Amino acid sequence: MTVSPTIGPGLTSRPQWRALRMHAERLAGRPLRELFAADPLRGERFAAEAAGLYLDYAKQRVDADVLRALRDLADAVGLRERIAAMFRGEHINATESRPALHVALRAPQDDVIEVDGVDVVADVHGVLARMSAFAERVRDGDWKGHDGRPIRAVVNIGIGGSDLGPVMAYEALRHYSRRDLAFRFVSNVDGTDFVEATRDLDPRETLFIVCSKTFTTLETLANAHAARAWTLAAYGGDASAVANHFVAVSTNAKEVARFGIDTANMFGFWDWVGGRYSMDSAVGLSTMLAIGPANFRDLLSGFRAMDEHFRSAPFEQNLPVLMGLLGVWNTNFLGLDSVAVLPYEQYLKRFPAYLQQLTMESNGKSVTRGGMRVDYATGPVYWGEPGTNGQHSFYQLIHQGTRGIACDFIGFCDALAPLGDQHDLLIANLFAQGEALAFGRTADEVRAEGTPEALVPHRVFEGNRPSSTILAQRLTPGTLGALVALYEHAVFVQGVIWDIDSFDQWGVELGKILAKTTAAQLASEDEPVLAHDSSTNALIRRYRSHRSPS
Ligand code: F6P
Repeated sequence: MTVSPTIGPGLTSRPQWRALRMHAERLAGRPLRELFAADPLRGERFAAEAAGLYLDYAKQRVDADVLRALRDLADAVGLRERIAAMFRGEHINATESRPALHVALRAPQDDVIEVDGVDVVADVHGVLARMSAFAERVRDGDWKGHDGRPIRAVVNIGIGGSDLGPVMAYEALRHYSRRDLAFRFVSNVDGTDFVEATRDLDPRETLFIVCSKTFTTLETLANAHAARAWTLAAYGGDASAVANHFVAVSTNAKEVARFGIDTANMFGFWDWVGGRYSMDSAVGLSTMLAIGPANFRDLLSGFRAMDEHFRSAPFEQNLPVLMGLLGVWNTNFLGLDSVAVLPYEQYLKRFPAYLQQLTMESNGKSVTRGGMRVDYATGPVYWGEPGTNGQHSFYQLIHQGTRGIACDFIGFCDALAPLGDQHDLLIANLFAQGEALAFGRTADEVRAEGTPEALVPHRVFEGNRPSSTILAQRLTPGTLGALVALYEHAVFVQGVIWDIDSFDQWGVELGKILAKTTAAQLASEDEPVLAHDSSTNALIRRYRSHRSPS
């Protein structure tokens, strides 16, 4: 949706913003071909490295002056101070009046980070120690099901941040996971999700992690109740079996107890951890069960290395700052409204889905922190699929369509599952795509290949499509932590520039409220009085009259 201009908060009238507009006009006539021709060292100079990640942004449509102007804008809006405020635990989530302190989740044990005057690092490490002890017991077979069998399957029940991080991390780190334990993830209130996830499992060997920050989320509670019934059915309804087969991850001990899970089997976190920033809190319990406590510690070290870099590196070399600012440039000055995330690593197949919540729930906002309507575009649409699959489906549109799409390519020098020369083939494709997008193929080049004239326009690639490439040695727990932290902080940088609250999510509320009313109308024995719009009323009536009796 185009954001209609209203009384602006001032960002677009800043001199730095106006300067960037002029740069955009200046560069409009200088495609990437020309920028590369003018600077033979561009490929090396427009790159930065930190926490094991090498970021090549030479194929972004910027030059040194644009980068300087973007940093000027960051300085003008006080980015450095806002970063410090986040690390200090200030209430930067203004509309919910709380800190956004995910960096404390990976702080070293001897650090002190205070929230409202109380150090939280000791609590973080206390929970990590409890998680580790529990994970060891399950992995060693010491934690038994109700009739004494060891646990062979772990099912995480959660949605949004209580699902996407766990499932993404499990898939990403499968190489490091225990293969004799099955891991499943149930999120959708669609019963199919639960039924299919548990179809081949034995309830007497299954452990459920009910993962919900609030422990009031409709989908999660519905699935948790289904899991309870499924488990108890195997024990003739003996409710004491819950203690062996259910643990909870939540901030809400009262609701956990009300559900029937002993709070001794609850792993806590805090309201200053946003759901989409929580995969390294107790929400990562399934990850720790899969990869073990030592690998989980490596994951946290990767996060921490990127945090330290973000906090202290000069903006010129600061990966999250560079990525965030390049995103602002693409969104606001080149008019690109979508980012394709393209991991050339099968283990990262759920990474684009994970990033969708991180980026779009964070920066899909249209009022400033002060409540003014913005007069500029904010968060772009994120989407993607692993390479090379995407090449055989939607890349056509990226190469030759009429929309501008920025691409983030992600690849690794070493394969975790080497197979002949396939890793070289995979990475050759990654590099080739970035090159093709940037430089394209002119009509003359197409003609020189002997292409019939009628086909020439069809075979021309305009090029000048921007992309970044993130290259790392291999996908390890530490690399994954650094990669996630890179995106977390890039999202924050953009939120600071756009002056929006990246840590609230009021936009998800209305649908939840309407669904409650509608659910009651669908369940009602009597014909309900409907006061929706005529379309919704008709749909409800049709559903009620067409569904088969259960
Ligand atoms: O509806 C959105 C949301 O609040 C997300 O922000 C959150 O990650 C998800 O629901 C799940 O919430 P909870 O962990 O409280 O069940």
